[in-house]
Amino acid sequence: MKLLIDDAHLDAIKKIYEIYPVAGVTTNPTILSKVGGNPFDTLSRIRDFIGEDADLHVQAVSRRAEQIAEEARHIVEILGANTFVKIPAVPEGFKAMKLLVDTSEILITATAIYTPMQAFIAGQCGASFAAPYVNRIDNMGFDGIKVAQEIQQIFSVNRMETEVIAASFKNSQQVLELCKCGVGAATVSPEIFSALVKNSAIDSAVEDFIGDFESFAGAGKTMIDFN
Ligand code: E4P
Repeated sequence: MKLLIDDAHLDAIKKIYEIYPVAGVTTNPTILSKVGGNPFDTLSRIRDFIGEDADLHVQAVSRRAEQIAEEARHIVEILGANTFVKIPAVPEGFKAMKLLVDTSEILITATAIYTPMQAFIAGQCGASFAAPYVNRIDNMGFDGIKVAQEIQQIFSVNRMETEVIAASFKNSQQVLELCKCGVGAATVSPEIFSALVKNSAIDSAVEDFIGDFESFAGAGKTMIDFN
């Protein structure tokens, strides 16, 4: 399962990249609104930082299929290869996906997925990824993890190449559940990224080891101080 950052603040992205294995960045219009300004300034800075091989997901906001397709081409023209255009999995979105798949090599992430059938149709239309919104589904009284798992199973039994990129997480347990069943990717906020391995017992164990070493070697000493 690839891990991506669901955020557009470059400082936050840099902090997570420094520490964790990250495959790329996902954004949506709401995420971009938190940075403001020209969205391509924000996205180009992210692209420059993550490099041309990393995945960058950017959402089209037009309502009609032809405009969505035009917007998708514009996004990829500016942000380059490995840019996935997020297109809502609704009828005009499906139409746009088909248009794009028939006429270009633009990579598509079907987004705003709340039901398995949206993901199936998007996959049949040629989407590379389908993004179920785990936490939002939970908040509607359904089981977001189960929906994501069902989508993965649908792709598998139908021998489709589309992968799940699970999105909208509220906690690290939700990420773990999907990691266990091997979905293609999960995109998480910087806060949840940091919480994936946050545990005071782990910190305490590491501090105990350092303390034990310093107890015989001296304060601040490490293996570098010995030959
Ligand atoms: C990603 O594709 C989604 O846009 C995002 O994860 C939604 O997250 P939210 O439910 O926290 O807004």
